[in-house]
Amino acid sequence: MQIVQRVVEMQGVCRGLRRGGAVVGMVPTMGALHEGHLSLVRRARADSDAVVASVFVNPLQFAPGEDLAKYPRTFEEDCRALEREGVDLLFVPQAEEMYPGDAVTTVSVLGVGDRLDGASRPGHFTGVATVVSKLFHIVGPTRAYFGQKDAVQVAVLRQMVKDLNFDLELVTCPIVRDADGLALSSRNRYLSAEERKQALVLHQTMMRMQQIIAEGGRQSEALLRGGMEVLQRVAGVRVDYLSVVDAHTLLPVTSAARGSLVAVAAFVGSTRLIDNFLVD
Ligand code: PAF
Repeated sequence: MQIVQRVVEMQGVCRGLRRGGAVVGMVPTMGALHEGHLSLVRRARADSDAVVASVFVNPLQFAPGEDLAKYPRTFEEDCRALEREGVDLLFVPQAEEMYPGDAVTTVSVLGVGDRLDGASRPGHFTGVATVVSKLFHIVGPTRAYFGQKDAVQVAVLRQMVKDLNFDLELVTCPIVRDADGLALSSRNRYLSAEERKQALVLHQTMMRMQQIIAEGGRQSEALLRGGMEVLQRVAGVRVDYLSVVDAHTLLPVTSAARGSLVAVAAFVGSTRLIDNFLVD
């Protein structure tokens, strides 16, 4: 696995790959890799001639007071895992390399980027869209892989890819869970043993809402009532949002239909966790 830190070098290597006709699969990450990330890499490996990953804790997507400083950094371990999974090229820029002092351009996805997590974390998706568009320009992948766990991020990036005519396919891979149902997240590392147990309520809420739908209950109001009953059972869990929305626009829908997204965000202690499912 070749490791590159400089944008110009990365552009050169990726240009070479594309000139040789390679199908390039890209997996952008912020490191602290878990099985969820590795499932993206495996899918990219199966689909592509060359697999490119990036590890960059993007300061632009953290608001002041969020967890940028304490975000887990496990570079050596990440490298070993990526190498094991057959990644060909790893991009690990420093912050000054991605955002030199004179950089002033950002990418904002209006509307979609301001809903759900975008409403709770103002500016977050401008940070995400800016770094992902830069990575897409630097690498020029054929396909880029993202996890369905970050369903709101996926909606924002889909809109960005469409609006800015990025010539690539965005591939979404299923949520990977621990055996007890907790969706894998780099932030799960912040949880104490007690909080780890409390965090299960997010998945339990999603399961309850899936059950209501399976029993024929599609009205969002009833669904949200049923979900809230579960979610509010656990003291120590503070709900950020529980919503039934259109998966593309992220606007609320009155009744859940195929393509609706049911999504939850909640604080367990001081850790903000998310979960979701798509209605089929
Ligand atoms: O999902 C993430 O880890 C990040 O938001 C991403 C897409 C790598 C951009 O920094």
